Amino acid sequence: MASFRILVLALLFTAFALDQTGVEANFIDSTYFTWGAHHSQTLDWGNHLQLVLDKTSGSAFQSKSAYLFGSFEMLIKLVPGNSAGTVTAYYLSSTGNWHDEIDFEFLGNISGHPYTIHTNIFSQGKGNREQQFHLWFDPTADFHNYTIHWNPTEVVWYIDSIPIRVFRNYEKEGILYPNRQGMWLYSSLWNADDWATQGGRIKTDWSNAPFMANYRNFRPRACTWFGPESIAKCTAHTPSNWWTSHVYSQLSNAQQGQMNWVRDNYMIYNYCQDYKRFNWNMPPECFKPQY
Ligand SMILES: *[C@@H]1O[C@H](CO)[C@@H](O)[C@H](O)[C@H]1NC(C)=O
Ligand SMILES: *[C@@H]1O[C@H](CO)[C@@H](O)[C@H](O)[C@H]1NC(C)=O
Repeated sequence: MASFRILVLALLFTAFALDQTGVEANFIDSTYFTWGAHHSQTLDWGNHLQLVLDKTSGSAFQSKSAYLFGSFEMLIKLVPGNSAGTVTAYYLSSTGNWHDEIDFEFLGNISGHPYTIHTNIFSQGKGNREQQFHLWFDPTADFHNYTIHWNPTEVVWYIDSIPIRVFRNYEKEGILYPNRQGMWLYSSLWNADDWATQGGRIKTDWSNAPFMANYRNFRPRACTWFGPESIAKCTAHTPSNWWTSHVYSQLSNAQQGQMNWVRDNYMIYNYCQDYKRFNWNMPPECFKPQY
């Protein structure tokens, strides 16, 4: 019995340590389809994944492991052409009523009109923190790098290594932060033409179906979640240099400059400036530095 326990611990520790190495995760090994598997697929020996939406259904996949903190890189090529009404989501989420969630959502548009990148973050069930952007490139022409960076001090949304948004941990000042529960990585492609494109006025044109989003290079450099006992382990340091050097990071001046450029030129909605919506009682994090 004792030796069995030691074996289990050793296995857990190995899995934990391996996840820090940051090798590209094969989609077959690290994810599974949860919806629409009949028309979605992995290609190139599991290095490439394709989600498909047609009139019969959308599709989705999720990671097999849950994680507490880490950097979640994915190269994505979004639905080309007339993608109005379609939404591609790439996000981390825990389960249950008081869930945490960190979102990227890509809202399609008619040809020649820009995609909208929608971001949000929930801590213990509380969201309502939307910020939206247009992009400085065509996200359907090629693969681009969408990375969610989540550590004990901050969450950063990166596109092609340019930070577009930061949510810092101000827990000591009473603002809840996602650091008590593991999150899985999810991605899905579905029809949301009741709201997604130009406020729902533009509907999905099914003559363009099937719609496809393509994924490569999923790289979770992350601490694996095994339940509440993971909190101390993941919050402290781990053997990996990458992780320790990033735990207390803050954006460099150059990165802050890049983020300001995106926010000045491409941000189209910021909940912190939507005074009417909050009846001028702005959420407390809106008054704190976020970089
Ligand atoms: C993707 O972006 C992240 C965050 O900037 C960066 O660490 C990583 O090296 C990038 N990956 C690729 C394949 O470019
Ligand atoms: C679609 O294009 C319109 C007009 O160019 C733009 O205002 C809107 O933000 C774009 N995105 C969505 C999802 O409607």
